[in-house]
Amino acid sequence: MKILSNGHLWKYSEFLENKDFFFNKKEILKSLSKKDIDDAYLSISSWKGYSPTPLIELNKLSEEIGLNKIFYKDESKRFDLKSFKALGGAYAVEKVSQGNKDIVVATATAGNHGRSVAWGARRLGLKCKIFISEFVSDARGQAMSDLGADVIKVKGNYERSLIECIKQSTDNSWQIVQDVAWEDYMLVPKYTMAGYTVMMREIIDQLKQNKISHIILQAGVGGMAGAMVAGIARYLDYIPTTVVVEPDSAACVLESIKTGKIEKIDIKRESLMGGMSCGEVSLVPWEILKNSVKYCISLPDDDIAKTMRLLGNASFSDEKIVAGENSAPGVISLIASCEDEKIKNKLELNKESNVLLIGCEGDTDQKMYQKLINQK
Ligand SMILES: Cc1ncc(COP(=O)(O)O)c(C=O)c1O
Repeated sequence: MKILSNGHLWKYSEFLENKDFFFNKKEILKSLSKKDIDDAYLSISSWKGYSPTPLIELNKLSEEIGLNKIFYKDESKRFDLKSFKALGGAYAVEKVSQGNKDIVVATATAGNHGRSVAWGARRLGLKCKIFISEFVSDARGQAMSDLGADVIKVKGNYERSLIECIKQSTDNSWQIVQDVAWEDYMLVPKYTMAGYTVMMREIIDQLKQNKISHIILQAGVGGMAGAMVAGIARYLDYIPTTVVVEPDSAACVLESIKTGKIEKIDIKRESLMGGMSCGEVSLVPWEILKNSVKYCISLPDDDIAKTMRLLGNASFSDEKIVAGENSAPGVISLIASCEDEKIKNKLELNKESNVLLIGCEGDTDQKMYQKLINQK
């Protein structure tokens, strides 16, 4: 043990096995169909500047923790937005606009989704209104203004910004492009998830002959995780073990899987893993995730900065990887699982395992990134 022999135990908070697990491809593809997935790939792969993001082998880490291979999908290279989010909001904007240049798109956001919507609107020459709560940082607001959006600050929290977005959009006939689904608002969130499935299509090509045995998926409202599971159902003729990882302060998927129904979490402390700090799983991903996720893990923030630093200084791979806060939990949960013999056996992690991790983002918040990787 070279990298990890510092006496530090990598931490997880909770580990849960899904008692309702069964992976039914047909059921999964009812929520996000083969056509939804194929249409998204066809469109996005034709966008100017498109190229697949790298799939990097964490060869040093796999050797250390006794696995065959660890593949890391590096979304820090996704267009110029440095996050998989670029695939979702921007694609939903394209679908909603249907070639009409006169529409105005609007969204409420904590940051990353809004950037994708603003970027997608600019791509197509559409006007864009972004509603943010008073708690969203000025830097995040500025990033969306820089993409040409009108940024409207709303007093109160995210929910207040969404209410204001819906009100003004209804009054002005703007098209709402939200990534979270509710009872009568499912189509647009579905488009954002269809956009995310492009990652899986690329991964399939990049894996070549390798088969993945495990996939670890970060979740906020579950859109990314649900999309990747749908991608598995669409593209693979085998079923890897699926694990969802969340912050322990906002483990809404874990708590919902525990009871078999959507549970709302009262978030008492905002996690460093900002994009994943969500209190309620969204409806479309829930339908996919409730049976197809085999295990859930929740994590404290403790190992985030260290993991970002180790990815950044090439301790885990031959090359340096710029990984933001939301990219670290996949790596942490894998190491923590391998350090716990019982969980390692339960997950059947061994010398034959090929694990897929999603590096959701790069230094989307550069100041925060520098602060964290330099933390001692
Ligand atoms: C930047 C960012 N935002 C949000 C999320 C969560 O995505 P979702 O809300 O679709 O589950 C992630 C990763 O899970 C992320 O990396």
